[in-house]
Amino acid sequence: MSFRLAGFRPAVVNAVALVFALSASVVFAQNATGQAAQKTPAPAAASTAAKPAAPAAAAPAANDDVMAAKPGDATAGQGKAAACGACHGVDGNSSDAQYPKLAGQHEMYIAHQLQNFKSGARQNAIMMGMATPLSVQDMHDIGAYFASKQSLPGVADQALVAQGEKLYREGDTARGIPACMACHSIDGRGNPGAMYPQLTSQHAQYIEAKLKDFHDGVTWGNEPHAQIMPLIAKKLDQQDITAVASYIEGLHVNDTRAPTTASP
Ligand code: HEC
Ligand code: HEC
Repeated sequence: MSFRLAGFRPAVVNAVALVFALSASVVFAQNATGQAAQKTPAPAAASTAAKPAAPAAAAPAANDDVMAAKPGDATAGQGKAAACGACHGVDGNSSDAQYPKLAGQHEMYIAHQLQNFKSGARQNAIMMGMATPLSVQDMHDIGAYFASKQSLPGVADQALVAQGEKLYREGDTARGIPACMACHSIDGRGNPGAMYPQLTSQHAQYIEAKLKDFHDGVTWGNEPHAQIMPLIAKKLDQQDITAVASYIEGLHVNDTRAPTTASP
């Protein structure tokens, strides 16, 4: 926690950074108060913080159901995930880079994104079709199944590693870009309690596509949480995005000290 806050502070250099810091501190606060707080609908402070960046679309109330559901059952989830394997890989390690790896992703994050696809908060025609028939419990069971798998690392492009690593670990204070590891953790495992997704080993092509979407102002809903990445990605240029995406693909779950592909 302490390194996360330390990495965070230099980013608060202008109003835009302040907005996301505000949103993020709400997230931190929710996390700190634990289980009980997660079941309560979004607090008033959260919606206030979201206002400057929030689009006009209605907020999906359904996420509260996702939070309130019983923990997923990975065994039940395996059967329910049969249809997902065609694109995401049977164990969540997709071979086609346009489909994100789900292996090792946090249960709650998977359930939350499935709910986002179902409600249309996150727009994708294929995934809307896949998520629509799922109940909240199905989403958790499937989430628990993929969370129990380990993501297989990809390979970072050596020519991009240094720039990607710097951005990931330090951000760029002068441009108001926070370190990615402040939220996604040093090894890219993320933070399940705060709903910061795992990024480690993810296909660079997918990471790049998502960062470009965020850069262009795409949001995944109205919650303060969903405003964080668009605010950050707006400040990334094409080269930042390519470099950090490649670095992320090379991150390894088991190595918590340093990614093996990056030479310091
Ligand atoms: C026909 C291919 C296809 C199938 C089948 C499919 N997906 Fe997807 N899935 C995608 C694509 C494409 C994306 C990326 C969408 C985007 O970029 O927003 C995606 C994204 C996701 C994400 C978001 C991951 C992230 O890191 O944000 C989740 C979660 C997910 N799918 C779960 C599932 C589940 C569960 C099933 C089975 C019920 C499933 N998918 C079936 C193509 C598919
Ligand atoms: C203040 C916390 C925070 C920081 C700092 C941060 N992120 Fe994120 N990131 C998030 C949150 C929250 C989400 C989930 C977005 C949502 O649910 O709408 C996310 C999602 C993502 C995703 C989509 C992952 C997926 O599979 O769905 C990518 C890619 C990403 N972040 C990359 C980055 C990069 C690269 C950096 C550094 C330049 C960064 N993030 C810095 C909080 C953060």
